[in-house]
Amino acid sequence: MCYNTPEVNRLKKIAVLTSGGDAPGMNAAIRTVLRSGHHYGMEVYGVFEGFKGLVEGDIKELKRHDVSRIINRGGTILASARYPEFKELDVQKKALNRLQKLGIEGLVVIGGDGSFRGALAMHRLGVKAIGIPGTIDNDIASTDYSIGFYTALETATDSMDKLRDTSFSHHRCSVVEVMGRHCGDLALYAGIAVGSEFIITPETGFDLERTVAAIQDSYAREKRHAIVVVTEKMTDVNELARIIDARTEYETRATILGHVQRGGSPVAFDRVLATELSEHAISLLNDDNGGYVVGQRGMEIIHTPIEDALAMVKEPSNKRYGLVGKLRNKKENA
Ligand code: ADP
Ligand code: F6P
Repeated sequence: MCYNTPEVNRLKKIAVLTSGGDAPGMNAAIRTVLRSGHHYGMEVYGVFEGFKGLVEGDIKELKRHDVSRIINRGGTILASARYPEFKELDVQKKALNRLQKLGIEGLVVIGGDGSFRGALAMHRLGVKAIGIPGTIDNDIASTDYSIGFYTALETATDSMDKLRDTSFSHHRCSVVEVMGRHCGDLALYAGIAVGSEFIITPETGFDLERTVAAIQDSYAREKRHAIVVVTEKMTDVNELARIIDARTEYETRATILGHVQRGGSPVAFDRVLATELSEHAISLLNDDNGGYVVGQRGMEIIHTPIEDALAMVKEPSNKRYGLVGKLRNKKENA
């Protein structure tokens, strides 16, 4: 990476934390926060277990060697946590106090939209906070992709390729639940990547009769296997498998991929994205800017005020991308 000679050096100390569900590539982001921060002459502190560690003072200065050989490691060396108490102002003020005692003026928060609400709270208390999108769900509206999405997509795709092997051998249908919270991107992209028969996401909605009809059609076309991909919380996949088993000729099994989707070495795309977004985050702080979420739009690395980013509604991927859109419409009109 090429750096320009730093011209300003306003922030002397910054901290970084990872929060919410972990995502592959968070370590690559922490690495760049540290290396880029050092480039600009900042001391960089690591906060352990997200906002919980910030409140409890679990904070230590990171040294260069702390981030050696982590660019390819899954999880987060800083650990993560869900800490609902952080919604309370008095709890946020305790965190502010911790930072002030250490003379830390800037805070990088790597996580999803919940974590960005925590970052916004700190920004409103006067801390220069920057959010970096890190979540496998790809549900952040202010960026095309969040760190971890492509790795989780690879994992889901690989798992479903394996399920297809055994489904084919046994002439079965597999109903597979993937993560995504309220966003269907993981199901949509993985479903396309494995050539699934049917994809059920928050954006498509769930229609039992259409689902069963698609699987009956698959059997009529003499396919030896069928895959139905479902975003979590859309329906009970065990129950759906039981219905498909009863109403079609396929013996049917349900598989919940679960937290395996959150682990593993980040794919190259996530490492590069993490590096670019983190470099941008630190250059914003170096220019004395806080209160932003960084992201990628097309080929550009951008930043959006946190309030605006949180207010944005994510356009469903099936509308944004031609191929995916056509495929979904085909299914809808079938
Ligand atoms: P994600 O960041 O992946 O969306 P969560 O929604 O669980 O995950 O949020 C992560 C953490 O961010 C929460 O456990 C909490 O500590 C903090 N957080 C979430 N919502 C808020 C809020 N409204 N105000 C302050 N902090 C919040
Ligand atoms: O936000 C990431 C995510 O993995 C979601 O896809 C999923 O709904 C949730 O976190 C699971 O959270 P937990 O780790 O608390 O079970």
